[in-house]
Amino acid sequence: MVAVTINGQTAQAVDGTSLFDLGEGLGIQVPTSCRKHGKCKECIVEVAEGMPSLSERTEQERHLKGNFRLACQARVKGESKSATGGSRADEGVRPTIRCHTMRRANMRIERHAFGLPLGRKAALEPAVTRDGERILIDGDVVDRSTGPIHGIAMDLGTTTIVLRLFDLESGEQIADSSFENPQRFGGSDVMSRISFDGEHRGLLMRTLAGYLTRAIAELPVEPRTIYEMVVVGNSTMRDLFFGQNVYSIGQSPYRSITEIEMADGKRTTTSLTSTGRRCLLPIHPQARVYGAPIISGHVGADAAACMLAVNLAHEDRLIAVMDIGTNTELILGNWRRILAASCPAGPAFEGGAIACGMPALDGAIEDVALGSDGAFQLGVIGGTAPEGICGSGLVDLLSELLRTRRMNSMGRFEDAGSRITLDAAHDIYFLESDVNELAQAKGANVAGLQVVCSAYGIDFDEIDVFYLAGGFGRHLKVEASRRIGLIPNLPDSRIVQVGNAAIEGASIALLSRSRRRELEELVTRVEHCRLETHPSFFDFFVDGCQFKAVEQESKLAADERR
Ligand code: FES
Repeated sequence: MVAVTINGQTAQAVDGTSLFDLGEGLGIQVPTSCRKHGKCKECIVEVAEGMPSLSERTEQERHLKGNFRLACQARVKGESKSATGGSRADEGVRPTIRCHTMRRANMRIERHAFGLPLGRKAALEPAVTRDGERILIDGDVVDRSTGPIHGIAMDLGTTTIVLRLFDLESGEQIADSSFENPQRFGGSDVMSRISFDGEHRGLLMRTLAGYLTRAIAELPVEPRTIYEMVVVGNSTMRDLFFGQNVYSIGQSPYRSITEIEMADGKRTTTSLTSTGRRCLLPIHPQARVYGAPIISGHVGADAAACMLAVNLAHEDRLIAVMDIGTNTELILGNWRRILAASCPAGPAFEGGAIACGMPALDGAIEDVALGSDGAFQLGVIGGTAPEGICGSGLVDLLSELLRTRRMNSMGRFEDAGSRITLDAAHDIYFLESDVNELAQAKGANVAGLQVVCSAYGIDFDEIDVFYLAGGFGRHLKVEASRRIGLIPNLPDSRIVQVGNAAIEGASIALLSRSRRRELEELVTRVEHCRLETHPSFFDFFVDGCQFKAVEQESKLAADERR
């Protein structure tokens, strides 16, 4: 017998039982469209412990690497061999397997937006309308029905996905839904997804469609009453969803196929349009699926949607929007001029590449305070025992170490050790090498800020509103972020932790045709700053790696350097 834990629930399994059957027995919904025949590739699980206690990979699993398996193919085999060659059962070691499906229920995902200047109800003017029994999209009849008319806004992120369901006649939001992007088995960042898609064309898209189908089926309306869907996301996620070839986004000069076609005169916009049927979704087959336009290969439709959400086209004030992630996106400007940049920050602030790092799941340390006695007080998501540290906890930790002088501005621990223990009982610690990873991620963000402000010809203190967008930005402590130099040294009154501005922008584009046109026009006016070509980029980066308040590189000094 083998103890198998799936999504936190445990069962005893006899040899030969598949993880899928065990999951079903535990009442866990394992995604499937092929009923365990190894064809749909949707039943993926990530095995955290006990890979040797599972059967060999089958032919149907050839696309999977690392600890990912298909639940319908992976079967329990209790007699795994130990390092000494004997069976682990012989040695009194009881084999255990711990795994989870790709839809972990306890992931903290930001669904809301806060502190925005304009409500989305300002103009209810959807593309889908009714004329008696006729349902029309931009004036073309697509159905005859007296039933309701619904639409979906979707923020399709590399890590997480948020859906909002609207009644398109009243503009009311009926429901929302969020889950982890199941494409994680193809790598955690866009570059690895691009490379995976090159080897297994279409598989990421089909897997996502399977998960979306289930998420839509769980919404409290008949899916065929959904006549439009607006999709925002980074350029890679958006293009993969629409079945586009994403190879060119992974190669210099990092352009989406839609940008290339637009430059060649083959299209007039980088937005994409498809139908419910072609996107393999259970919504009305003639429903329009609209992928919002992108700004560049690495500043996607999610950043464009943020511009709509913060009403940038009508702002006179100088606005900055920063969405910190593996690829931090930056927008600066107002109705006169807009600059955008992307900073390749890497996964450190999402807990990747950090010894005890983890995503914002239950068990992640998100608050850290260091008492005068040197003891850590830790706030843990879900109030459970700590399992690791997520991004906002890492920012807190760095700030506390800096404040109490246990770490200097160069990121060196002052007690000459290279390891700091946060929770001995649960073996949670922080390494000096972790600081290096975070320093580089921060350096990329700061360099981006410096380049964009320098290109705009402003000092940081001229920014009137600094929107911190995204789930990570929402949960950061502003004071800690300023202390370590992750964000500029602006007063609290100018910093707005806006949450998921991208889903708000997608919602606005769904509910208003004129705002959607505004978005299409807005992206054509954005000047894309390529950080690596700026003469001072490297100096900005090195300076940004230090843990100190971000000071503006004076324009004069920057000019002199040039
Ligand atoms: S259930 Fe379809 S591949 Fe496993």
